[in-house]
Amino acid sequence: TPLVVGVDLGGTQIRASVLQGAELLSRANTLTGENPTPERVLPRLFATVEQAIEQAGISPEEISGIGIACPGPLNNRTGEILSPPNLPGWDHTPLRTLFQERYQMPIYVENDANVAALGEYMFGAGQGCNEMVYLTISTGIGGGVIAGGQILEGVAGMAGELGHITIDWRGPICNCGNIGCLERLASGTGIALEAQEAIAQGKAEELLEYARQTNVPPTQIDARVIGEAAKAGIPVARDIIEKAGEALGFGLVNIIHIFNPEKIILGGGLTQMGDILLQPAYRIVEKRTMREPHNCASIALARLGANVGLIGAGALVYHLNR
Ligand code: BGC
Ligand code: NA
Ligand code: ZN
Repeated sequence: TPLVVGVDLGGTQIRASVLQGAELLSRANTLTGENPTPERVLPRLFATVEQAIEQAGISPEEISGIGIACPGPLNNRTGEILSPPNLPGWDHTPLRTLFQERYQMPIYVENDANVAALGEYMFGAGQGCNEMVYLTISTGIGGGVIAGGQILEGVAGMAGELGHITIDWRGPICNCGNIGCLERLASGTGIALEAQEAIAQGKAEELLEYARQTNVPPTQIDARVIGEAAKAGIPVARDIIEKAGEALGFGLVNIIHIFNPEKIILGGGLTQMGDILLQPAYRIVEKRTMREPHNCASIALARLGANVGLIGAGALVYHLNR
């Protein structure tokens, strides 16, 4: 199996690995950092890639290609990042060209959720399943659709923006400009915003008290803290997570109705909340999905965990180099 480099450019972390199949031969990472403009991030991005290569003890000539997973929307033909809601300042960054100028090997840039879908399809919970949808629930919400064993790309790689389907058209506005998006209602940032709103309305005294007791400043009440507070039985936190779970459920209903998938794979950090988030989602799916497509579909958790971006980015090189 050829050696490849996988790069996972995320809102919080940048990671790079040399991979052989799904096996990580090295790992390097750095924080994306505050105010992550391309000017600040790119030098560290390159340094991280080079560190991963060095750590693996190989020379660049031995590498078949570099796959880069990146929040969209982006054009996967040109490798240009377009206008990512969760990577402000990166509009129209020609990422592929920048890599191409520095490394003499094939470079592929693809949406992070599409990449994760491919990773799970080739090496994880989606193996052998040619009709599947991957949904990542993290800082944002992203989707990747495998149809007929291929990534569903659309005309330029932007198909599957499942975080930006409207769940509540009278709901709050999303970073993308649309209203009541799944991402706005059920992602890490969405959940944190719901909590900030409850705080502003004076409805979250118990949550504030929980934060005080656990030494979390009120401005740093994020989805993780809210999830823990919900597990500790704080009613306002439970309500926020339950609502997010229900929004997720309606997202899944839509996905089943649109794609008739055999499997939906849920990944991303927020799935670690477990039942408090997922049970309300499953309840909605049971109740609201049309019976026949529902009978075909199973929902499973991702298997590649936090490495899904790296493994998927490597998988991209295997998938496209053929
Ligand atoms: C972006 C997607 C991305 C997802 C996860 C969303 O806001 O629109 O392209 O896959 O976040 O990073
Ligand atoms: Na996608
Ligand atoms: Zn949106």
